[in-house]
Amino acid sequence: MESLSKRIAAARAAVAGAGSLDEWERLRVSLLGKSGLLTAALKELGTLPAGQRQQRGAELNVLKAELSAALEARRAQLEQDAALARLARETVDVSLPGRGAMPGSLHPVMQAMERICAIFERMGYRREQGPEIEDDWHNFEALNFPPHHPARAMHDTFYFENGELLRTHTSPVQLRAMRGRTPPLRIIAPGRVYRSDSDQTHSPMFHQVEGLMVAEGVSFADLKGTLEAFVTAFFGRRFEMRFRPSYFPFTEPSAEVDIRWTDAAGKERWLEVLGCGMVHPVVLENGGIDPERYTGFAFGLGVERFTMLRHGVDDLRAFFENDVRFLAQFG
Ligand code: PHE
Repeated sequence: MESLSKRIAAARAAVAGAGSLDEWERLRVSLLGKSGLLTAALKELGTLPAGQRQQRGAELNVLKAELSAALEARRAQLEQDAALARLARETVDVSLPGRGAMPGSLHPVMQAMERICAIFERMGYRREQGPEIEDDWHNFEALNFPPHHPARAMHDTFYFENGELLRTHTSPVQLRAMRGRTPPLRIIAPGRVYRSDSDQTHSPMFHQVEGLMVAEGVSFADLKGTLEAFVTAFFGRRFEMRFRPSYFPFTEPSAEVDIRWTDAAGKERWLEVLGCGMVHPVVLENGGIDPERYTGFAFGLGVERFTMLRHGVDDLRAFFENDVRFLAQFG
């Protein structure tokens, strides 16, 4: 009994000094576990003469209760220490600079398209959309490109096996906007167009905005005034502009519009920015509109081109590579 009390005193000291929950668990097993010190002593009770057994048993139970209490007290302390240590480790330093969010934004080409459409909407135009997969009639035939007309060859068309095609321009939306409506009408049609063509200034997919106005007495002067107002609003300043005679099967007369551009090096030159003209009578007729009564103008512009000019970007491919370092500058 005396040697047992010594060992138990030593064990209590060890419990009080347990430095970790692992060490604490080893001690608990060595004392109260199945083959622990106290358990062994209790098992020995049976070998004692009946007269000693009761007293010895009572003493052992007191020891066991004391040990359990000591173990429990140490465990609570160790757990609290661990919790405090974790709290100290996980402290948030609110004075550190934040990590900063990376908000997305519209692609610069979409921003320009929105800007273009908004300018025309302020002039009373309504947004219109047509399908990107078109039929020959809307993309060519109804726009006065007869079969085998040489102007078709300039369009580098992507065809499907069933004869449908990826629209090469937004002009087919003119037909869709005219049919079933009576003038006056003013529409603006933004969208993707496709041509089998790719280099520094051409991409097989690019964006156009088409404009169409049909009413009684619409003249070329209205077209000029509208486009001058648009260019001024888009770039935020006036440009010298010229309307250079050109050819499109669906307009007559047709023109290409150049603006007097000063490049980064300070050199001035004429820069083509869009195609336009008075809607051809055949196109009005195909749209179900009486060309004897109504006239109209139409124009089509390349959105990438306007975006490049506005921001001084000189390689079209930058818009399609999706390098965030480039795109983030337009946020
Ligand atoms: N559709 C023509 C093109 O893609 C542009 C245009 C539109 C010209 C409307 C005149 C009138 O080149």
